[in-house]
Amino acid sequence: PLPKPYAVPLPVPEVARPVRSAGEVDFYELTERAAEAELLPGLRTPIWGYGGTFPGPTIKARSGRRTVVKLVNQLGEPTVLHLHGGHTPPESDGYPTDLVAPGASREYVFPLEQRAATLWYHDHRMDYTGPQVWRGLAGMFLVGDAEEEALPLPSGERDLPLLICDRSFGADGHLLYPALEGKPGVREAYMGGVLGDVILVNGAPWPELRVARARYRLRLCNASNARAYELSTGGPMVRIGSDGGLLAAPRTVKQIRLSPGERADVVVDFSAYRVGQHVELRNLAGEGAQARVMRFAVDRDESDDSAVPARLSTVEALDPARAAVTRDFDFSSGSMHGGTGWLINGRPFDAGRMEARPKLGDIEVWRLTSDVAHPVHVHLDQFQVLSVNSERPQGPPEWKDTVELRDAQTVEIVTRFTDYRGRYVLHCHNLEHEDMAMMAAFEVV
Ligand code: C2O
Ligand code: CU
Repeated sequence: PLPKPYAVPLPVPEVARPVRSAGEVDFYELTERAAEAELLPGLRTPIWGYGGTFPGPTIKARSGRRTVVKLVNQLGEPTVLHLHGGHTPPESDGYPTDLVAPGASREYVFPLEQRAATLWYHDHRMDYTGPQVWRGLAGMFLVGDAEEEALPLPSGERDLPLLICDRSFGADGHLLYPALEGKPGVREAYMGGVLGDVILVNGAPWPELRVARARYRLRLCNASNARAYELSTGGPMVRIGSDGGLLAAPRTVKQIRLSPGERADVVVDFSAYRVGQHVELRNLAGEGAQARVMRFAVDRDESDDSAVPARLSTVEALDPARAAVTRDFDFSSGSMHGGTGWLINGRPFDAGRMEARPKLGDIEVWRLTSDVAHPVHVHLDQFQVLSVNSERPQGPPEWKDTVELRDAQTVEIVTRFTDYRGRYVLHCHNLEHEDMAMMAAFEVV
């Protein structure tokens, strides 16, 4: 039987403390280890966690302040750390074959020359990202900056990371990951990706949060392997940020679609509700238990001096007319090593083969096409969506690092390659598709 919804309080992951700070540099240590966690009430679940917790601790970093994370691997398997949405030099970006061996450690350097944004970090080991993230290797990483700090947005306890993912459990509380074959790759029965039947927020099943009649900033992150959500409170939500940070101006919406890897920063004003009222965060893309996510219990009045200003930030529009080249990336299934796999431009991932060599400083347009739905993620630089099936998206441009291609869609994005030369990847963020080789390398030259 599934756990009862809204029976456990929302946990808020601990904020990581630097082991030391020197000048403009903060040093953190993240130790990956096996642990037991009480994810479901009364049951012990073996997990792999950064710091032994799932989610891992939240890292709160600052734009322009170098953040050095020493990853210590105490697991029995190799790992790779990737800062999703980070503008990171190649040697610290977590190239899928840059393994940290069991017992070894590695320093990842994040210069964070980028705007404030809701990022997350997770494992990125070639062929095994799906199972390793499923076991718990994921956490939030918030970048702040002066521009954002000057805004009167909800802060402190009213600024909450919500890491959302689905998992399945055995009766004794073990995590069930059914797709592994005992060798690299995913069993063909899980071609579509692995879905769980329990929705976790910050590691708790359908949790409840008691809130005041005030504005809250919710940093929604879809950390699921393969599930897309259509999130709704039943009332208005004010979207203030995307994968790559603040929007130019807030946008009131009724629902928010998040495919795996995507984030949305929203402000919900609970003063629109009475004390005693419950506000459900629902998933309109799910059915039954999977249509629920969490619940807010409005339980008190409190003063609130936060606001959502009409202007949030400046978002430069990248001009596609200045693109040096247009490239095509097709995301489709096809045959590979005698079976079926997920391919980009008809080829499975090869860590040594560069699918593109963009020039540093260039603007490029990438035309992405799909057979079925694929959330496409590009490392290094944020991009802007130009069109979806030839239609311009509504509203001014926003910075994204992951965009969902729905069935048989064409999505054009524009990006600029900045600051770092070297090897990076783009891939499908359905983690089973990624592990089935739907990934391509590019080298900024
Ligand atoms: Cu969130 Cu390449 O990954
Ligand atoms: Cu995919």
